[in-house]
Formats: sequence, C-alpha cells, structure tokens
Amino acid sequence: MTPPLLHPREPKSNATRESAAQFEPRSLRTYTPTQAVIARSAGVFHWTPEGKRLYDYTSGVLVANLGHNPRSWMKRFNDYMGWSRAEDHGEFFQAMAMTTYNAVTPLEVEASRRLVEVLQARPGGTRLEQVMWAASGSEAIQKALWMALARDRTRDMILATRFGFHGKKGLAGAVTGSEQDRERDPRVRFISFPMQECADVSLRNQPFDVSRYRDELEALKQQFGRRLGTLITEPYLGGGGSYHPPKEYLHCLQSFCRDNDLVFILDEVQANFGRTRDLFAFETYGLEPDLVVLGKGLGNGVPVSAAVGRRDLMASLDYGEGSDTWSANPLCCASVLATLDEFASRDVLAHSRKISAKIEAGLVRLKELPSVVHVRGEREGMVWGVEMRDAETANQTVLACYHAGVHLLGPLAKKVLRISPPLVMTEQETSESLTLLEQGFRQAIEQGGHR
Ligand SMILES: Cc1ncc(COP(=O)(O)O)c(C=O)c1O
Repeated sequence: MTPPLLHPREPKSNATRESAAQFEPRSLRTYTPTQAVIARSAGVFHWTPEGKRLYDYTSGVLVANLGHNPRSWMKRFNDYMGWSRAEDHGEFFQAMAMTTYNAVTPLEVEASRRLVEVLQARPGGTRLEQVMWAASGSEAIQKALWMALARDRTRDMILATRFGFHGKKGLAGAVTGSEQDRERDPRVRFISFPMQECADVSLRNQPFDVSRYRDELEALKQQFGRRLGTLITEPYLGGGGSYHPPKEYLHCLQSFCRDNDLVFILDEVQANFGRTRDLFAFETYGLEPDLVVLGKGLGNGVPVSAAVGRRDLMASLDYGEGSDTWSANPLCCASVLATLDEFASRDVLAHSRKISAKIEAGLVRLKELPSVVHVRGEREGMVWGVEMRDAETANQTVLACYHAGVHLLGPLAKKVLRISPPLVMTEQETSESLTLLEQGFRQAIEQGGHR
C-alpha cells in the first residue's frame, strides 16, 4: 500500500486520506501534493472536514462552471426529475426513473432537441444536427471517432494534434499525446501544434505563418492519400499545458478537412460552456466542426457528455453500436437541461468576461516572481495555465496555495498550474482569491529557499 500524503493539524482529513489509501488504488487520482479532502462546497468554495475554506480555482476539473451546488440549477434539476412534485407510491416515489435503458423518455428528447437548437443558433453550429450521448468525455470522443471511421472503412487514418488530451480510454487514448507514447494505434498520425507561438499571453498578437503546418498536412496527404478520413483537435491544448493557438492554425486544419473530405472533430469537452469567452469554442475560433464533443461543464457536475454533429455521420452506426448503460439516462438529461436553462436565463458569459480581465492581470503580475516562466490563456475566457520553472516548484506552489486557501489541481504537463475558477466568481471573490493565490506563490518561494 502506498503511504498516504498527510498534513499536520488535519486529523479528520488525514483519517480520510488513510482510508482512501487502504481501500482505493493510487492510480484513481492524478498526483497532487495537497490530497485535499473536501467535505462540502458552495459556489466558488470548498470546505475541508476541519472547516478550512478553499477557493476552488479548478471548478472540479473545469466542470462546475456555474459553481458548486447553484441553487437555481439544483431547483431546475429537481423539477426536471420530478422530485419536487413526486407523489407517493407506497415505499416509492413516482417520479422520473433514474435509469431507462432501451426506452425513450420525453426528458431525453427534450435535452437532445434543446442542445441541437442551442448549438445551431451559434455561428458555426450549422452541421450539428443530432446528439450521440455518453457519460464521460473519453466515451463521447470514442463514439465520435467510431462514427467518423464507420462512414467509410477504407478511410481508416486519423490525424490528431500532438500533445492533445482526449481522455485515456480506448480510441480517445489513441489520439492523445504523441508518437512517443507506448503502443500507438497504427491508424493515428500526429500533426504539430504551434506551442512555441502561443507559449505566453504576450505573444497573442504576433503574426502567425501557417505554411509549415499546411506543408505538414500536405506531406501526410502525399503519404496516405484517401486513407486520411478524420482529423481531431482540441480548440486549445488543455491537459497538454494550456496552449491557446492563433485562429489561423485551426482554420488551416479545418480547410484541409474541407478540401480533402476529412471529418473535422472538435473536442470541446473542456472548453464548452464558457471557458473560451463564448458558450462554445467553435464560436470563439470561427470554426464549423462536423462533430463537436461536449462534456464536463455540460452537466455542471453530473457525469454526462455528447458528440453532436452531422446526421449522415450519426447514421453510419446501426442499432446498439453507440449504446451503453448510462448514455442518455434521465439524470444526465435533466442536468443538461438545467445547464442550458441557466445559460439562457442570465448572462453568465458577460460576467465571466468581466472578471477574466482581472484574473489575467493578476496572473500576469505573477510573472515578476522568479518561479513563474509564462502565463497563457483564453482572451476574455476563464482558463489559463501558469508555467512554473520546474516540476518541484510547481508542486510546492500547489501546496503553498492550499495552505493559503486556494485549491489548485496538480500540475499539468509536469509544471503548468491550471487556473479555471467557476464563471460565476464575484468581483470581490476574484480580488480576495488573487491575493491569496499570490501569497501562496510567494510562500512557496520562501519555503523553497529560492531567490
Ligand atoms: C479536451 C478533453 N477531452 C476529453 C477529456 C476526457 O474526458 P473524461 O475524463 O471525462 O473521459 C478531457 C478530460 O480532461 C479533456 O480535457
């Protein structure tokens, strides 16, 4: 058994950490030096069992975009499930079932229809005609790729952006990372992503030359010809270290797909529901995907995901080929409807754009510290990466921020700290949390004995 990471003066949290180490494998979690134990949450806050309050700068992992347990979202969710008006039926409640495999519910159809309507109403959403539900991001990616491959079995090659993250399972794992990883799927080829060109916010307005990327795509076309059938990319590299590309790069990929009849899949599992300043990243980047993959913020905490796209691609799979126990279950659909209602009924995005500027200014100020190398992120969005000098400094900073009162994820790509608070953080919470964050960064430097 791996000994648990314990922290002084946290008796209750430590007991929970010890139980977790006894009954769960460590592989269940990605590494973080905090091993924060969360007992309850509200809005932008978590509380530990000791009552220590933490600003949640992660939103789960970009999931709780509307904050934790938002009152009006919860009420809508409850109403859609019929719990708030449930009649007694002996020992049971008469309400929406929590599972309805191999049946159709009005709730599910309503969620599909509303999601398509919302997507099609956005610029670039015209191809998004039907919804293939799933329960996790990687499952929806897998289903999107299944559909693209099934369109024409002779076009079996998939292009994926190098160092992208699409999940760990199955085909989603196969298109993640790079050719350096073990056991590559021979159908997948990786294409370069302009990481250097977007290594820091200060490079945002630099001119960008797509020719290198276009040449790379043309070379692959020479090599594989019509076997190239699908291209998948994230709008920005999320798990790969928060690299937010110039629009021209993504346009270059999309044009290649159009010119050569490749299915263009945009993985918005992380970006959707407001992280890139608009509701969807395809709007922000001016794209028109054949399939868009949604997840995380879609259910604001309920595990639900979806691949949404062209009807003809959806039709390439037959009965049962995209089905599983949880897809389109009522709990998921109720959560999606509640999320869509919330974004429709108040201008969450106008608010988040306002606080975005403040957060970005606060993060850019951190570059004065010797531990911080780069800051990257979405202009007017709610997702950044702070690249630290090295992995050790990054981990020390995560721990120091925890002690200062800010919850961060363990570093991405070894040394990049993800900043992704809920979109609903107030101005006052923004100011206070930035002060605490800076305290954490400074404490890590003092403790580490750096200059
Ligand atoms: C862009 C992107 N795609 C796919 C996934 C996989 O989602 P899940 O962990 O729900 O399988 C993630 C998860 O972080 C992601 O960021």
